[in-house]
Amino acid sequence: MAHFVKTCIRGFSTSAVREQAIKCVTVIGGGQMGAGIAQVAATTGHQVVIVDQSEDILNKSKASIHKSLQRVAKKKFADDAKGGEAFISEAIDRVSIQTDATNAVGNADLVIEAIVENLDVKKQLFTVLDKAAPQHTIFTSNTSMSYVSSLLALTEWYMLFGGLHLFNPVPVMKLLEVIRIPQTSDDTFDKLLAFGKSMQKTTVNCKDTPGFIVNRLLVPYMVEAVRLVERGDASTRDVDTAMKLGAGYPMGPFELCDYVGLDTMKFIMDGWCEKYPDNPLFQPSAMLNKLVEEGKVGVKAGEGFYSYKKK
Ligand code: 3HC
Repeated sequence: MAHFVKTCIRGFSTSAVREQAIKCVTVIGGGQMGAGIAQVAATTGHQVVIVDQSEDILNKSKASIHKSLQRVAKKKFADDAKGGEAFISEAIDRVSIQTDATNAVGNADLVIEAIVENLDVKKQLFTVLDKAAPQHTIFTSNTSMSYVSSLLALTEWYMLFGGLHLFNPVPVMKLLEVIRIPQTSDDTFDKLLAFGKSMQKTTVNCKDTPGFIVNRLLVPYMVEAVRLVERGDASTRDVDTAMKLGAGYPMGPFELCDYVGLDTMKFIMDGWCEKYPDNPLFQPSAMLNKLVEEGKVGVKAGEGFYSYKKK
């Protein structure tokens, strides 16, 4: 009964709550994606809290935001150094950090989860946040592995839930996939679309399907490139050159794997393979698994398909 009552209160909110636009955003996870999302939310006028496990990680997130803001400012305020400095400091001022997720959602209109792709950890997090957040808070996941709806299992806020999938590097990539699960209310969905617009992203809508639109096409393409090299048909360098010069892609598939992270690629593939073991596109790759096992997960590790170590 308690479950039913809470679901109804969260889903059928009062008109005052319904009219409330998203102003305060809590981003859970200060990694590459989380920091990028926090940065763009801050530069577009939102108050942002980033949550992660330690001050150390959070300080690194803030440092990466600062570095990225400098790149944006350099372009946006090419002839206006003072304007650039103000742009950076205003954005930084809108970002605070927290190690306690329950404190961080106290004022949240929107929570965006961008933590490790581990279903149990995510479910546990949402269960805790559900109890701590105000009634109107919308919960979203930036997951690229799980079904968004699979995160609902232990929680009670069905109608205020959806997926927001952004792309790396978030300050540069213009797309936001907005995912609706069957329980997402029209009001929640409209707010997510409006939030995307306020972030100056172009939104596309997608049902809760593996990989949504972009990853469903991009990840099998990248793994197919790995299989091509595994068979000895061509070298990684030549495949990358071919796709950049022959298909006009900004990065070749191996450069992109290294950029996204081989661990992320493996998480995505493993999740899909477990769910759809007969789909040939979702079969594991020995080469990818070996590199991950060796810790060669791409740019962030200094090595993946290519080496990024300074000589
Ligand atoms: N922050 C701010 N600005 C950045 C940036 C960052 N992190 N990274 C790049 N930029 C800006 C640069 O300042 C530069 O601006 P300018 O052209 O005005 O000078 C511009 O972007 C281009 O950057 P670079 O000159 O350094 O390098 P490139 O021209 O090679 O572009 C790239 C880099 C934008 C990453 C481009 O190679 C690209 O678009 N690659 C494909 C990225 C992609 O496919 N992302 C999606 C991955 S899938 C995903 O994220 C989903 C997940 O679930 C797995």
